Amino acid sequence: MDSVNQEEQAPTITLDGEEVGFSPGETVYEVATRAGRAVPTLCYDPRLEAFGSCRLCVVEIAGQGVPAASCTTLATDGMEVTTASEGVERLRRTLLELVASENREVVVDPLRGIASQELATLVERYDAGRGRFDGEQSGRSREDDGNPFILRDYDLCISCYRCVRVCAEQEGDYAISVANRGFATQITVEFGGHLRDSACTFCGQCVQTCPTGALADKKALRFAENGG
Ligand code: FES
Repeated sequence: MDSVNQEEQAPTITLDGEEVGFSPGETVYEVATRAGRAVPTLCYDPRLEAFGSCRLCVVEIAGQGVPAASCTTLATDGMEVTTASEGVERLRRTLLELVASENREVVVDPLRGIASQELATLVERYDAGRGRFDGEQSGRSREDDGNPFILRDYDLCISCYRCVRVCAEQEGDYAISVANRGFATQITVEFGGHLRDSACTFCGQCVQTCPTGALADKKALRFAENGG
């Protein structure tokens, strides 16, 4: 009877010393967030498949030599997780400093979209300076793109691919893609062209998921410029 009861027990992880139950298939990030931990993210959007590129959501897992991205790591029974050790918090701060140093600016007009304040909020939370990794900036703006709806200010892009993924996974348009690799990575459309010549339907999903304001609604910005 005892063994039957044991088998029926819900699986748990130990989260910062607290035992927390989870459903099979949940990620460590999902369990931690549900348990009230403010694990930072940049490439994560709950509507999208986890991507694991920004590494901000890293946590320490007992027995693992290096911090793991919690958004792509499934919770397993008995796992011991530390979400905000000194080392992990220092790593997050350094990652934010790297990301922020590549951008022309971090604080952007909130009219650039719902998610546009995410990077600035995290930079402030972690007091992540922008000068430590001064150097070249990645991304090339497409202000020459004459479409009337979406500003493509890739000086502010951090290559989180949320725009690419929302376009594919939520809209099924596959209008936005990625060119090149590493520091030369560039968000683009087919043949490096303009949005209006692509499969884009101007649904605006890419604008609303962008965590830095690299994409923006031109109409909203014009409206604000003209005093509403
Ligand atoms: S949020 Fe997990 S790696 Fe970006």
